[in-house]
Amino acid sequence: MSICFDKEKGVFLLNTPSSTYVIRLYNEKYLLHGGWFHKLPVWSDVCVMPLADRAFSPVPAELHGKADFSLNCQQCEYPVPMRSDFRSSAYEAICDETLASDLEYQTYRIYAGKKSLEGLPSTYISQDSEADTLEIDLKDPHTGLLVTLFYTVWNSLDVICRHAVFTCGSKSLSLRKVLSASVDFPHSRYRMLQLSGAHARERHAVIRNLVPGVQGVGSRRSASSHQQNPFLALLSQGAGEVDGEVFGFNLVYSGNFVAQVEVDEWGMSRVQMGINPYNFDWKLNKGESFCTPEVVMVRSEKGMGGMSRTFHDLYRKNLCRGKWRDAERPVVINNWEATYFNFDVKKLFALADTAVKEGVELFVLDDGWFGKRNDDRSSLGDWFVDKNKLPHGLEEVSDGIHSRGMKFGLWFEPEMISPDSDLYRAHPDWAFQVEGREPVLGRHQLVLDLGKDEVVEYLLEKISNVLSTAHIDYVKWDFNRSPSDMHLNASHKFYLGLYKLLEKLTTRFPDVLFESCSGGGGRFDPAMLHYMPQTWTSDNTDGLSRISIQLGTSVAYPASAMSCHVSAVPNHQIGRITSLSTRGHVAMAGTFGYELDLNLLSEVELSEIRSQIAWYKNIRGTVQFGDLYRIQSPWNETSAAEASEYAAWEHVSKDKKQAVVSVVWKFPEANPEFVVVPLQGLDPDAMYKFKSLQSETLIDHLKKSVFDMPSSQCSAIPDGTCVSGAELMYAGIRIMGKPQYGGSVHFVLEKCS
Ligand code: DGJ
Repeated sequence: MSICFDKEKGVFLLNTPSSTYVIRLYNEKYLLHGGWFHKLPVWSDVCVMPLADRAFSPVPAELHGKADFSLNCQQCEYPVPMRSDFRSSAYEAICDETLASDLEYQTYRIYAGKKSLEGLPSTYISQDSEADTLEIDLKDPHTGLLVTLFYTVWNSLDVICRHAVFTCGSKSLSLRKVLSASVDFPHSRYRMLQLSGAHARERHAVIRNLVPGVQGVGSRRSASSHQQNPFLALLSQGAGEVDGEVFGFNLVYSGNFVAQVEVDEWGMSRVQMGINPYNFDWKLNKGESFCTPEVVMVRSEKGMGGMSRTFHDLYRKNLCRGKWRDAERPVVINNWEATYFNFDVKKLFALADTAVKEGVELFVLDDGWFGKRNDDRSSLGDWFVDKNKLPHGLEEVSDGIHSRGMKFGLWFEPEMISPDSDLYRAHPDWAFQVEGREPVLGRHQLVLDLGKDEVVEYLLEKISNVLSTAHIDYVKWDFNRSPSDMHLNASHKFYLGLYKLLEKLTTRFPDVLFESCSGGGGRFDPAMLHYMPQTWTSDNTDGLSRISIQLGTSVAYPASAMSCHVSAVPNHQIGRITSLSTRGHVAMAGTFGYELDLNLLSEVELSEIRSQIAWYKNIRGTVQFGDLYRIQSPWNETSAAEASEYAAWEHVSKDKKQAVVSVVWKFPEANPEFVVVPLQGLDPDAMYKFKSLQSETLIDHLKKSVFDMPSSQCSAIPDGTCVSGAELMYAGIRIMGKPQYGGSVHFVLEKCS
């Protein structure tokens, strides 16, 4: 059992493979935090925060003789408000018009396995032997409020998952704040890592020093958001990508969140994460409960890289579900950037004909197939086919795509409603709006109130109808505005409704591959991954912009979850021209596809695409399900400025038989410096053979046809060369950026002995 309770000392020890998390009882009543360290064989209860008589730190009445105990000076496990701790509390429960609250230890339960969270997505186990759980009951003697803290300790991963359940006692109360986890660190010699950005510039890694006071990120957009991700990490002094102690926190929730660190006057750091108290005031009457979302907490001694790989392993096996969880994901052609709203059956089939010849496996029909949707001003909610565009319905398109040998996928944006739609004309009250105020529009649309059961039922029925009438293998589930005009608590109720809908739909259609999307990556969070194993990473498909977006995303989320497409040049979002090979190399770091009109390309380009797809099919198992090593990240580990002019990453298969390496220059220069790329994660005693993606690029073609020059391969080392894993890792490959290839190098290493 990875959890034990030492009754004599009043201490709970939670052991993951290489860490120990300590919870202590003080005076058999107060629940304190003992620390989270490298795994300890025994715990003496000596190395704890000492008692100290500090000015302006109140003492509980029954300990008045001992002026040296104040919760204000201790590491607390789940801090209470308005008593003796003036730092940010873990909850606020208003009763009798006061926040004042006490939580006294009652009892505990330890068992093998893990329970699911009522109405909320969470990590899960397939067998009880994967994890153990500790429940600790705390009670406010005055109000009878029962708070149960849950800790699931994973046996093969350095992960602890936490959440809390509030159950109302004799006195009704109002929950104004209910965080999922609070962890007090004894000092503040950490840097904080956050994933921040904007629409089309999501999840750039930003690292800053901790300073006294509160610092953190959050969302009030009723979406986990493009701007901030429900993630933060603390990096110990000296910790970097490869080494050092790192603590990562990630909230399994898609709505308003807060993730913050408070550094107090004595330098202690309190990490907190949970639902944002903004617009939240949840009433509980006797016997009623509220369950917080789950926080996944990872401790790594192998730097940020080790932390990321732990998140990836957990999310791939114990968060994502269903048939597609372990299945290699198909290569996609999506018609959005190829046609936008302007398509008909002929155009779609022409695109499909070319795509299938190049090896594409899934054709996705994006926005514009329903209602009267010729632009983004109408029809959301009217989930029936537009017969003007598709006269014989979706069946004709789906059958045509399947007969060509591809799977067929379809776009929806179910949570939205256009004022110009039959649905709105019938049910204007289903959209979020506040009486007497004109609702605010975003992309000309309003948001449906999924807190209403009839809305959830309507969507379930409409989407099920579409998915059952035509043969649909994949769904892209979009969400293109931040909700507004909500009543109190409406955001959390919205997510409870959405999760209910997704649970029913994914159970009803177990074979469908669902991909989540929110104007790109506006809801790239673990909760959505519980229902949909992949997410459209960003609306920015520029090959170079994608480096920071994808590597930032990889800090918490696996490559199998990141949908990445090659698009046209000049790029539709930023106008940049990047070589097809570089666009391919970057997009191959996730689940791969294309999003452009293939019929506008030359034969040379199509043949390069054919080679890319064939190549990707051979490496996708490693990319999607292997271990990621960020050899050179595009960010700076000590300041918010971008650091490196190139980025390098490597995916290694779990059996270490194959490694896929990419090096991409953001600003390719003529006659550049060599860069040293020390590989990681290989078998040092094995020999690896180089293999590069052989294809004629446009530049090769030019060199050959215009200048009669031979083309050279894009890899650093000639194909077939065998090198030991040790040499590749400890000496590192010297690579020269070849601007003529658009500034990227990509190769595979295959174990040969
Ligand atoms: C936003 C998505 O991110 C795009 O890929 C596309 O599906 C559009 N919505 C369609 O409206």
